[in-house]
Amino acid sequence: MQSSEFSGFYKLPIGKRVAEVREFAGLSDEEAKALSAFSSLDQPTADRMIENVVGTMPLPLGIAVNFRINGIDRLVPMAIEEPSVVAAASNAAKVARIKGGFTAKAGEPVMIGQMQVLGLADAEGAAKKVLAAKARLLEIANACDPVLVKFGGGARDVEARVIATAKGKMLIIHLLVDVRDAMGANAVNTMCEALARPVEEISGGRVLLRIISNLADRRLAKASAVFAKEAIGGEEAVDAIVAAYEFAANDPYRAATHNKGVMNGIDAAAIAAGNDWRALEAGAHAYAARSGRYTSLTTYRKNSDGDLEGEIELPMAVGLVGGATKTHPAAKVCVKILGVKTAGELGEILASVGLAQNFAALRALATEGIQRGHMSLHARNIAVMAGASGELIDRVAARMVEEKKVRVDRAKEILDELRKK
Ligand code: MEV
Repeated sequence: MQSSEFSGFYKLPIGKRVAEVREFAGLSDEEAKALSAFSSLDQPTADRMIENVVGTMPLPLGIAVNFRINGIDRLVPMAIEEPSVVAAASNAAKVARIKGGFTAKAGEPVMIGQMQVLGLADAEGAAKKVLAAKARLLEIANACDPVLVKFGGGARDVEARVIATAKGKMLIIHLLVDVRDAMGANAVNTMCEALARPVEEISGGRVLLRIISNLADRRLAKASAVFAKEAIGGEEAVDAIVAAYEFAANDPYRAATHNKGVMNGIDAAAIAAGNDWRALEAGAHAYAARSGRYTSLTTYRKNSDGDLEGEIELPMAVGLVGGATKTHPAAKVCVKILGVKTAGELGEILASVGLAQNFAALRALATEGIQRGHMSLHARNIAVMAGASGELIDRVAARMVEEKKVRVDRAKEILDELRKK
């Protein structure tokens, strides 16, 4: 197995980085081209993907290095516009490696489809009738997707809930579907639509909405890691990170930002792999509020050795079948780089990346603050805006950071000075 550990990956020229990734993932010429093409999405493909296409909106695609997850080394492609995210994930993964990397586990790929039944005089009685007809409903649902059933998936169960609303009681039927390696929205929505009539006949009500729930709490992924105290500044830093976590655990204002940091990593890796990151966002935040109070998606504690233990658990509705994973040329290559064969494995990687990203943010926030790291990257952009190129970019940026004056006017002065030398 090739190692995902690279030191100074960021210092390599782009061509060398692509060559390293190519070797790691065994990419063909064409795949390497799709990966490094600065617009790999051609006009006909884009036009088939969505409606009213006028162009593409490219994002930088970076590679997070150093990840070891369940004993396997992974390179993680990340598509994101925000500086520091890829570097932070790579650094966190490097620290996690010291104690063996991430341990992750995705649960069964069960998604929930919802049917909203209205117009019932006795919603509780109707719920009982629907549940009594479970076997018939599951049969109808499974007849919609013989391919899914052939691959070991399919509708597994029916549940019923009655909710009180301003429009009276409503019966909410949940169809639980094992969607295997799909994200599942198409399979689940098709089944729910097919079940609407039978549910109406059985319940005596009227089915209005038939749609998947993004609160995919039957499809969770977990990841954990131990971050060695020596690598993060000793027990004082461990205590500071635990205190930072407690802030998020107990304050929704902080939890929102904390979880935003988690999703920086998960979304970026999900986008690169052609997955629906809005579904992941919706599921993550709804899950964070499952107790009725919005809280952190991660937990941290100091273990008996004084090291930091971190854990994450969140819904993970990701797929490798259908959608952009199969149509977007760069997404296809990113999936190959990830080396995943199942949606569960992809979920385990995304959960690990989320934990890594969150650990990196907490570590920075609880020690030196995030601005120093952010500023160095920002300073490079400012240096370019001031007209610097080549090695002058880093020299101008370093001076501005040292002087704590990251401004275009100062960049121009430094640039003039350096050019005169
Ligand atoms: C910035 O994109 C993300 C952070 O704000 C996350 C956090 O505060 O934990 C740094």
